[in-house]
Amino acid sequence: MLSSAIQFHVQPGGVLTGSLQVPGDKSISHRALMLAAIAEGTSRITDCLPGTDVLATLAAMRALGITIDRLPGGVLQVHGAGSQGWGVRAHGLALNLGNSGTSIRLLCGLLAGQGIACTLSGDRYLCARPMRRVTDPLTRMGAQIATTAAGTAPLQISLVQRLSGIRYTLPMASAQVKSAILLAGLSAEGEVCVIEPAPTRDHTERMLRRFGYPIVQQGTECRLRGGGQLQACDIQVPADISSAAFFLVGASIAARSDLTLRRVGVNPTRDGVIHLLRMMGADITLSNQTEVGGEPVADIRVRAAALHGIQIPAAQVPLAIDEFPALFIAAACATGTTVLRGAAELRVKESDRIQVMADGLQASGVPVQVLPDGIVIQGGHPLRGGPINSHGDHRIAMAFAMAGLVAQEPILIDDCANVDTSFPGFVASAQSVGLQVEVQHA
Ligand code: S3P
Repeated sequence: MLSSAIQFHVQPGGVLTGSLQVPGDKSISHRALMLAAIAEGTSRITDCLPGTDVLATLAAMRALGITIDRLPGGVLQVHGAGSQGWGVRAHGLALNLGNSGTSIRLLCGLLAGQGIACTLSGDRYLCARPMRRVTDPLTRMGAQIATTAAGTAPLQISLVQRLSGIRYTLPMASAQVKSAILLAGLSAEGEVCVIEPAPTRDHTERMLRRFGYPIVQQGTECRLRGGGQLQACDIQVPADISSAAFFLVGASIAARSDLTLRRVGVNPTRDGVIHLLRMMGADITLSNQTEVGGEPVADIRVRAAALHGIQIPAAQVPLAIDEFPALFIAAACATGTTVLRGAAELRVKESDRIQVMADGLQASGVPVQVLPDGIVIQGGHPLRGGPINSHGDHRIAMAFAMAGLVAQEPILIDDCANVDTSFPGFVASAQSVGLQVEVQHA
């Protein structure tokens, strides 16, 4: 079925109440599968996200010869390749990573120096996204990776001798690029050192440590030496703050809402959405703060509040990078103006999230000004509703679903199949706490 055939129909109004545990963190789930696959011994992963992006990583690991069993309760048991390396089946593989940018970029790093040749590809959206940001540094380490002339996937990885270390300053704040280099560094000769222009999510660093691999983080630098061995461990994946974000916004904008999101990952390199919503006047409280699998988690209670527009601080941009579609809806419902700058990276996500959100907001009657690296949103105008094209981007679809809470007319969101990449069961979860949303098969 064509992805555009799945639509969300959201009836205006509704209040978000009760409690909800959103599915496992996508970024952490990918890393858990990849590191467990190369570790020595058997790892168990609890609450791994069953979204199609993570299933693409899981299928790639299996294709590479890793045995992964599904135990009762959805626990994944991964029999790591360890010092044996990938099976012979790994050579010459063509891996399809669907819509998943994290799968293709991290796997590119993981496989570039593993003595195998393979091809990495994906759907039409993934094959339009920039890949030189990973292939450039990996090539400097000695990898041979061919892209299309436009610098996009398919990526053809050729068999090479051992990679060498690198000291690399990232040209953009990107956890995927940082992680690709660190993963390539595991099998490289010498040291890799990645320098970030601004802190980005540090799940790879935390999880390497969980698997017993030494890694040094000092200021903006992150360093590891190749040639070591990861040891299997058990990982529990926290609920994904990026999925929780839609409900944080929904409950903030829908009068009388009072909603608790349980066991959400609140890693300080991911919690920008909480800071930004609080700056806008949101009523958000954290409780039951603890740590699972080396990651901080908390229950998050959010109650409806009067929001006001803000200037988004530049330092918060990488810490909330996936949450801007939801935050733009909050800004549209806030009084006054919200200004985002320094966020050009949003243009190369699953869609051009600045333009696609601007088009949707404008179609709904919200005045916006598009900037090369951001947007200005004039809040406080009635949100009309009507048709929205998500451009196959899961986060655009879920953001506009929340706008239905305050819209004057039904919102019809097109091309929603990719919501399953990060949030399988979104519609049922959203209905269970009060959103009036239905799926339609066009
Ligand atoms: C991710 C990093 C971010 C984010 C993506 C997941 C990760 O991408 O947008 O959804 O898991 O490392 P960039 O590295 O391109 O910023």
